[in-house]
Amino acid sequence: MEKTIGGNWKFNLSLREKKEALNFILELEKRIKNLERVKVKIFPAFFVLPFLAKKVKKIKIGAQDIHWETEGSFTGAIISPKELISLGIKETLIGHSETRFYFGVNEEKVRLKLKAAFSFGIFPTICVGESLKDKLKGKSKKVLEKQIEKEILPVLEELKIKEDCFEIAYEPIYAISGFAKLEKRKPLPAKIKDVETAHAQIKKIFSYYGFPKPKVLYGGSCNPKNAKKFLSSSLIDGLLVGSASWNLESFFDIIKVASKIKK
Ligand code: PGA
Repeated sequence: MEKTIGGNWKFNLSLREKKEALNFILELEKRIKNLERVKVKIFPAFFVLPFLAKKVKKIKIGAQDIHWETEGSFTGAIISPKELISLGIKETLIGHSETRFYFGVNEEKVRLKLKAAFSFGIFPTICVGESLKDKLKGKSKKVLEKQIEKEILPVLEELKIKEDCFEIAYEPIYAISGFAKLEKRKPLPAKIKDVETAHAQIKKIFSYYGFPKPKVLYGGSCNPKNAKKFLSSSLIDGLLVGSASWNLESFFDIIKVASKIKK
């Protein structure tokens, strides 16, 4: 089975490091050329998106977020889906917990962004996941159910979207290294048992609504050391990697692990 490895570059390898970013993806493109069973995606900062997108064939380049409107008076808005498509970019993250936390992306906005993405033929990696507080209160399943049923399913049903037109990234908020840094604590990757439980739940909800096999990635403090543990699970279809994707060697190590998984 083909696993997906996504690299979320966040605010790194941006305009100031444009040359480094270019060398990174050119070298990575070379290294993954003959690798099987793995699909590689990179979500760079906006400023280098068009530049990098032109340089690669095998690596898929995507945005970290999109706006839901195509044009108009939206001072400070992020890129519109129409603009993204005109740059030849057909992938985006939607609903990443950092966009929810820092930029007020809520249920309604996730729905609007998804609708906009699908309307323009953009492939979204849709991020869901519970907070530590929810987890400790035993509410993980409820939170996931709500996110899927309120944010994602209405759009899939309205636009008659098939399950191979999107991926889900299960990213429990407490596991994301950026939040660990903010809270001045060590990154805390989720336990494999918890990730498998969540993935099984996510797949079950989608299946109930007529999407039997959606791809579900895991994200949160993934690194070359823990990648095998997650990727060996048949419930985990890939990883969304943040900080370990900002370094070519560690990102490539994770990709190599994925390509060796045969089941
Ligand atoms: P991390 O980030 O791997 O640094 O925890 C993951 C993400 O934010 O998608």
